[in-house]
Amino acid sequence: MATARKATSRKKPAAKKAAAKKTTAKKATGAKSASRKTPARKSAAKKVTRRPLRKNALTKLQSDHDAVRKMFNAYERKKDDLSDSEKGSMVQIICNELTIHARIEEEIFYPALRNVADDDLNEMLDEAEVEHTGAKDLIAQLQGAKPRDPLYDAKVTVLGEQIKHHAGEEETQIFKKARRVKELNLEVLGEQLEARAAELKAEIGAS
Ligand SMILES: [Fe+2]
Ligand SMILES: [Fe+2]
Repeated sequence: MATARKATSRKKPAAKKAAAKKTTAKKATGAKSASRKTPARKSAAKKVTRRPLRKNALTKLQSDHDAVRKMFNAYERKKDDLSDSEKGSMVQIICNELTIHARIEEEIFYPALRNVADDDLNEMLDEAEVEHTGAKDLIAQLQGAKPRDPLYDAKVTVLGEQIKHHAGEEETQIFKKARRVKELNLEVLGEQLEARAAELKAEIGAS
């Protein structure tokens, strides 16, 4: 009993102390407590304004680039273990993807950029079109070749290198410029690219 009483009596000052501390803290941090709340409010505001990445012309073209890079890498990794028919199928898919991608850029994306381009962007687009011509030549050679033909793998490798270089320049130079052009409606352009790609896919009979 005596111990219990002692414990009770010990609690009182402790509780008082805590209460006193709380009051002091409230008084002392009147302004600070408001500022402590500010980061919480900020992060809440961030959560509200953070939107998922919207699809647009650049996200569409970027995802095409990523897909085709993966296909070239897969071919390089597996080519020694693939049968001729497997090689032929993989290369056909790559060529179809590249053909559709180049067509939607040439028919829709590049002309839209030309409409608002400065000299720098026009030069970049000129180079991009020349690179497309080079790629189309190799694509045509591969489409007319058989996987057993001499230089078949070498042609796939060189096409892959050219495409990776070209896609890299588009992403770091042309896309960068396109993001800054306010007159471009990238969302609408993206819808046009998707629609035309679907048409071409059906035309070519690509999977
Ligand atoms: Fe391109
Ligand atoms: Fe591209």
